[in-house]
Amino acid sequence: MNERSTPPVHPSKRPTMFYLLFLAILASLTASCAQKTWDINRYIHALERPERDQHQQPEKVIEALNLAPGMMVIDIGAGSGYFTRRLAKAVGDNGQVIAIDVEQKMLKYNKRQVEKRGLADRVRFILAGKEGPIFSGNNADIVFLCDVYHHLEDQIDYLANTKPALKPNGRVVIIDYYNDARSGTLGFSKQHLVSKEQVIKDMEQAGFTLTKEHTFLPRQYFLEFAPIQTKGDSRASSKKWAPIL
Ligand SMILES: C[S@@+](CC[C@H](N)C(=O)[O-])C[C@H]1O[C@@H](n2cnc3c(N)ncnc32)[C@H](O)[C@@H]1O
Repeated sequence: MNERSTPPVHPSKRPTMFYLLFLAILASLTASCAQKTWDINRYIHALERPERDQHQQPEKVIEALNLAPGMMVIDIGAGSGYFTRRLAKAVGDNGQVIAIDVEQKMLKYNKRQVEKRGLADRVRFILAGKEGPIFSGNNADIVFLCDVYHHLEDQIDYLANTKPALKPNGRVVIIDYYNDARSGTLGFSKQHLVSKEQVIKDMEQAGFTLTKEHTFLPRQYFLEFAPIQTKGDSRASSKKWAPIL
């Protein structure tokens, strides 16, 4: 046999090799799941850390939103529910919050927090794909995104697709970190952050106009947009799937 050639595998050894290969794949899958669970737990911990309140000023944000009892708010990228439960309190018994996320573990944690506070009947949870659910109904007062905009892959399309969820006088609220020194030290790179000016441009392309800017948050911009009313929104009406909202 040529020294460099691969020695033939004896047929009786093949099952053992397949078994070892199977075990190796299983071990690597288990390790990657464990890593993901650990990462999500760390992520939740970061979102829920009490020091966040100092710059995030959640009560002031809720007050600035000027919510009324009975309103419907869609919390996109709701995560651990830092805002979901505060929004649920603010909309009262007859209000509704729809909490959407791509991470099931986030939603599970969020749901437990909501239940603990007796707010479960005001919140619906939707595990969505990264392009978002199909919105419809024109019955939401606010589409709310805090620290989510920079996570979206196609921001213009994603936000354009939320239009059918909103009442004609509804609002999209976007809070996100400044992509410069104002956001301070973050636990992640700033390269994916989007400037306030870019968000305003994107939103115009998505069919929204800036109506208000709140300036009290030191590290994030806080913007409100209204849908530009057009006769039939072609982006949204081209969808053929069944509505889920
Ligand atoms: C930084 S966290 C913010 C969570 C929450 N809004 C808050 O302020 O605490 C971003 C969240 O967006 C979610 N997310 C990322 N991409 C998303 C997408 N395409 N659609 C919905 N949620 C998404 C993540 O899973 C994560 O829970």
